[in-house]
Amino acid sequence: MKCDEVLNGQCANIGRMTGASPTRERLPPWHERVTLSNGRQVLIRPIRPEDGEPLRAGFGLLEPDEIRQRFLHAVKELSPETAERLTHVNPRNEFALVVAEPLPPGEALIGAVARVAVDENGRDAEFAILVSRYIKHMGLGRYLMTRLVKWAKGKKLNRLYGDVLENNGPMLSLAQSLGFQREFRQESPGLVRVTLELKPRSNNRTPSDQQRSSAQPQQNQNR
Ligand SMILES: CC(C)(COP(=O)(O)OP(=O)(O)OC[C@H]1O[C@@H](n2cnc3c(N)ncnc32)[C@H](O)[C@@H]1OP(=O)(O)O)[C@@H](O)C(=O)NCCC(=O)NCCS
Repeated sequence: MKCDEVLNGQCANIGRMTGASPTRERLPPWHERVTLSNGRQVLIRPIRPEDGEPLRAGFGLLEPDEIRQRFLHAVKELSPETAERLTHVNPRNEFALVVAEPLPPGEALIGAVARVAVDENGRDAEFAILVSRYIKHMGLGRYLMTRLVKWAKGKKLNRLYGDVLENNGPMLSLAQSLGFQREFRQESPGLVRVTLELKPRSNNRTPSDQQRSSAQPQQNQNR
């Protein structure tokens, strides 16, 4: 798959992902080759520093709406500094997966990014996801979200949450179908916070959680 084929939208007719079933192959952790239903292969893997330039190039091809839904406000371009921050994750408290062409990082076009970052409180984490329109409706969004949940559970976190524009029906229904609960917060008009409890309710609330029962997780600056 050449980058410009995707960039020109010629991959928009890729069929639905075949049950998100990775082929059996020995790959590093969190790496999966996924066959889309038209037989095309993509690589799901952790983001790499080399992805910065492809990320910036791909950003220019996104629709304003896709950008607004992901970043919750308009963003004209992905600055080198932002690309640097997004591609250099701290493995202790951040995780980000990309859906990329099966080419070396730096050459591969990035079609989707899903990330999660642990809050300052160390117990909750915020997610953000963008599956570009060229590869959406193929099950990748759902699959990436399940991987973020797995990572967050592995870190023994209490909750995974994300802020979603209230008119973002696709993300709200995707989150709901994964068990996330919706919450409207007075301090964030126009946004819906979707939260997934990762532990059984009884284990989930520490005394300090209970004290701040009316307080909410802070907005994560790593979004
Ligand atoms: C929301 C988004 C991540 C969905 O990605 P996707 O790869 O198209 O999602 P999937 O194909 O896995 O769809 C999973 C489910 O999501 C829901 N969904 C996805 N697109 C939908 C749409 N256009 N309308 C309604 N529901 C939709 C459905 O429940 C769907 O279930 P189905 O497969 O039974 O139809 C993608 O559209 C996106 O990146 N949007 C822009 C950025 C954004 O909104 N980010 C969220 C805020 S952080």
